[in-house]
Amino acid sequence: MFDFLTQRLKTQKELHRFRQRTLSTTNVERPNYIDVDGKSYLNFSSNDYLGLNNHIKIKQALQEGANKYGLCSTGSSLITGYNYAHQALEATICNWLNKPKCLLFNSGFAANSGVLHALGDKHCQFYLDKLSHASLIDGAFGSNAKVKRFLHNDLAQLTQWLNKSSNTTDNQTAQDSLIVSEGVFSMDGDQADVKQLAQLAKQNNALLYLDDAHSIGVLGEKGQGSCAQTNVDIVMATFGKAIATSGAFVACDETLFEYLVNFARHYIYSTAISPAMAWATKASIELIQQEQWRREKIIELSQLFIKKLSNSVEVLPSDSSIHAIIIGSEEKTLQASQLLKKQGIWLTAIRPPTVAHNKSRLRVTICANHNAKDIIYLVDSLHKTIETLND
Ligand SMILES: Cc1ncc(COP(=O)(O)O)c(C=O)c1O
Repeated sequence: MFDFLTQRLKTQKELHRFRQRTLSTTNVERPNYIDVDGKSYLNFSSNDYLGLNNHIKIKQALQEGANKYGLCSTGSSLITGYNYAHQALEATICNWLNKPKCLLFNSGFAANSGVLHALGDKHCQFYLDKLSHASLIDGAFGSNAKVKRFLHNDLAQLTQWLNKSSNTTDNQTAQDSLIVSEGVFSMDGDQADVKQLAQLAKQNNALLYLDDAHSIGVLGEKGQGSCAQTNVDIVMATFGKAIATSGAFVACDETLFEYLVNFARHYIYSTAISPAMAWATKASIELIQQEQWRREKIIELSQLFIKKLSNSVEVLPSDSSIHAIIIGSEEKTLQASQLLKKQGIWLTAIRPPTVAHNKSRLRVTICANHNAKDIIYLVDSLHKTIETLND
């Protein structure tokens, strides 16, 4: 019975793709460090881009939210789970992003898969960037929509497909089109041309769905993410990265909002997020809007990182917190990660299926709680590591 479990795990090990969890805690005294097995490591794998994890104001808001509104929402949003704390958070997000409506999900994964699943009627055509997150892919392919994946950031291919679709009179042709992209791509750190995507959507009577998980808080004058550049029809972002709490939101117009409340199964049949967490999230977003220095610090440290790296290190171009160093094979990438660990640096090896075959990498994330000394140490350690790998 279920022999394939053992077989697949065995293959996973042979391919150097076996994954295991690591028991870790963020070092409270030194938030740029992570503690594993009683040892501290300089952490370059965190998604706490703005360094807000453990921020006193957010923790106080969590406590206040628990005292005033409760730890648990007590039900799904359509039964008894929609609380004043949720309403206040939704209003804060709508004001921040200048969107009419917003609704909250338990995670970015649930939001992406839930919304695409609900939107994907059989006469719909979805166009997904090839590097879209697993949750977008699952939602799209789990829906009744037709799905095409355009080459990463290849707007010429997307334009061609959209033109072809609008020029045909074939009854079979899907009519409602949705373009789906990430603002900043999670594993490459590069950005979509959001303005161009929005324009393409408009010209072709399509809607644009943007997953801003890695740009919310980090990009935009007030941290509104890549959707600050132009009007994006549907914006999803998670609270679990720069916002440093947990859950996610989808911001959109009134009609789509009503539709999701009525038809998004992940929204309807799931306990609403903790009111205390919603209150803490609201406090975090207020802080993010005020503290521009955190975004500036990421830019400054990222520039230093790129400037100091030698040509021996292949790093993908990026204007975000994420800097992908391509190593190639799974085995070599694991080895690089181990070598860095010995030098006191935590950098998780990213391997297939998260990234393509032979594109295994070290995904460096530069956060507002790093300093110039950390970056120089990282660069020196990377140089040594690459040298050892090439020996
Ligand atoms: C691009 C992207 N979208 C969505 C998610 C899912 O968000 P969450 O962690 O809140 O489920 C992630 C990663 O976690 C992500 O990288």
